[in-house]
Amino acid sequence: MVKIKIDGIEYEVDEKKNLIDACAEVGVEIPYFCYHPALSIVGMCRMCLIEIEGVPKIQAACNTPVKEGLSIITKSQRVKEAREGTMEFLLANHPLDCPVCDKAGECDLQDNAFSVGKGFSRFELEKRNIPQEEIGNNLLINHNRCIICYRCVRFEEEIVGESNLGLFQRGYHSIIGLAKDKPIDHNYQGALADICPVGALLNKNTLFKSRVWYYKTAKSICHGCSTGCNIETNVRDNKMYRYMVRENREQGLYFLCDKGRFDIDWLNENRLFAYYENGEASESTLVIPKIINKIQTANKIAILGGGHESNENLATILNESRKWKKEIIYEVRVTEGQYNPKQVDFLMTNDPHPTTRGGIELGMTNPNNLEGIISEFNLGKIDLLFIIKEDLPQEISGNGTVVILHTNITDSVKKAHFGVPIKAFAEQFGSFTNKKGIKQQFEIAMNPILGLPSSGEFFRRLSLELLRSKKEALVGKR
Ligand code: SF4
Ligand code: SF4
Ligand code: FES
Repeated sequence: MVKIKIDGIEYEVDEKKNLIDACAEVGVEIPYFCYHPALSIVGMCRMCLIEIEGVPKIQAACNTPVKEGLSIITKSQRVKEAREGTMEFLLANHPLDCPVCDKAGECDLQDNAFSVGKGFSRFELEKRNIPQEEIGNNLLINHNRCIICYRCVRFEEEIVGESNLGLFQRGYHSIIGLAKDKPIDHNYQGALADICPVGALLNKNTLFKSRVWYYKTAKSICHGCSTGCNIETNVRDNKMYRYMVRENREQGLYFLCDKGRFDIDWLNENRLFAYYENGEASESTLVIPKIINKIQTANKIAILGGGHESNENLATILNESRKWKKEIIYEVRVTEGQYNPKQVDFLMTNDPHPTTRGGIELGMTNPNNLEGIISEFNLGKIDLLFIIKEDLPQEISGNGTVVILHTNITDSVKKAHFGVPIKAFAEQFGSFTNKKGIKQQFEIAMNPILGLPSSGEFFRRLSLELLRSKKEALVGKR
């Protein structure tokens, strides 16, 4: 930690931080566009101008090292005029597009124009008008809105490791464009639109879907893989519209991949809301007694999957099923990526489960793995198999009973003897444990339909029904 002065007041700040972040931490906001904590510093936008005591010229804060004794001025008339000048230059060529721009409401240019801009423009010439282009299979660029902050080019080169974008021509004619003759097709096109501080980069599949101020937001965790990126859910009319990144600097999580970010349709469509029996929709009052009967008569039970469920649901499933006084084996690992986890790229892993680690830490594994359970089931040694939000393993055969708990109507739900509807993670509070063993909480983002149980609540209900039928049997004997 070092001592620095900001506007004459002494603060203790972390010298490893960028000056913009160090100031923000003590409550002093410095406006910026091109600075991003995960990218190199280029000092291109000139929005973060400050005065440094002892330095005659005005300086960029993002480029100023934090060191003992540094004294900066962020609120002088000179700083005010410098920032107004930057805003005026940036807006000279920026269209008055806010009413039709997807970024409106979460645009840094709007925010900075309101907070440090002049409020009027002296620019009277014709603004440039370059046609919008498709530069990725899910990415558009509106050149007129671009402020040449270079974030997108740096993100491509420094984070994704590809050089798809470049800055071409000079001055008034400067334009961000494809550096190769093929469009971008990587897993981070959503992140590109996200880090663009204005509405220049846009994702096609979220274009014009909703105004951002209509969203109800919640703090959540991406369900897409074991990395556990922190997200903010954007829900409108109880439908999931978007996942947006929630930066977690401690874990170095600043971006989302497209696979996780755009995998939201399953929360809105094709949901399983009815109990199923032999491929047909049924009712809880018909299905649950039959499952109870199968538990009572089972010799050995297996519970497979659970890597998509919260740690809390998994703990309840374990606690409740142990009350049944039956031989039960558990296995949370049902895919290759759960047995041999690997990084697919800088962020995403090959394990498409958010809490495999949570299941393993709770003890939901068995030494014979998935194969052991399948072979015991096929040989008739296991006669009741619960599968939690997973597909029916292909190799499965035999005469035992299969119960699938799921959020969606899948082929496996239709093929199983019984299908049980459960809440999606976004419809409940809970936590996932990511690949590093970090337990992260998520909030409720959508309202579940009335009466829909979570997987844990369903197992609790089974325990209560078993107890009740035991009591009824005792009363009947008297
Ligand atoms: S497209 Fe967006 S991120 Fe890229 S330089 Fe322009 S404003 Fe910056
Ligand atoms: S890397 Fe994993 S956790 Fe992060 S956004 Fe992608 S799928 Fe979701
Ligand atoms: S944020 Fe400092 S110059 Fe852009």
